[in-house]
Amino acid sequence: MIKIAPSILSADFAALATDIARVEAGGADQLHVDVMDGRFVPNITIGPVVVAAIRKRTRLPLDVHLMIVEPERYVPEFVAAGADMVTVHVEACTHLQRTLAQIRELGARAGVALNPSTPPSALEFVLDDLDLVLVMSVNPGFGGQSFIPSAHRKIRELKKLLGTRSVDVSVDGGVKADLARSLAEDGASTLVAGSAVFGAADPADAVRAIRAAATAA
Ligand code: DX5
Ligand code: ZN
Repeated sequence: MIKIAPSILSADFAALATDIARVEAGGADQLHVDVMDGRFVPNITIGPVVVAAIRKRTRLPLDVHLMIVEPERYVPEFVAAGADMVTVHVEACTHLQRTLAQIRELGARAGVALNPSTPPSALEFVLDDLDLVLVMSVNPGFGGQSFIPSAHRKIRELKKLLGTRSVDVSVDGGVKADLARSLAEDGASTLVAGSAVFGAADPADAVRAIRAAATAA
């Protein structure tokens, strides 16, 4: 079954607990937490203290997307703060295999994100070191951008590359209910959505609508 991961980037940061409770009520499967450093991406968001604060307010798994340079320097702090999954960008890791092993050794699930211009083949030699792949369908840095259609073909190629391995394929950026069905058909197992959820009048309903669209016959 497809998983829905609301991205808190588009939530009200001054009322995070309330917004998180809303998407929990809508049946969200996990929370996507976007960490930006102003170097790997032009924007700056949050750090481990906010992850620790969120951890106290929800039982949902926390999927922490690190859009930062040298992520290996901060992986231990994010795991200690309560991250269940830590995703690093292949473009930000000089020693990707080492960083993935580090995440697993600390007890979290190891993820790799691919920018829109990065091919799935960048992962060819770390396929057994991965628990999830995050296919970026926008250039990372901001919520509310438009979905880049080449992500469809990338998900399909990635699924072939992964073969029978049980690796989650997540898609992040510009995901709305009207894309959910085709992304599920491509092979995505998790849909990340920020503005489509928290920009809606009722975020709980928005989560339900994305799930319904993804699973519609
Ligand atoms: C973009 C982030 C996304 C973003 C998605 O850099 O990684 O997780 O919050 O937001 P929407 O769904 O609005 O594109
Ligand atoms: Zn993200």
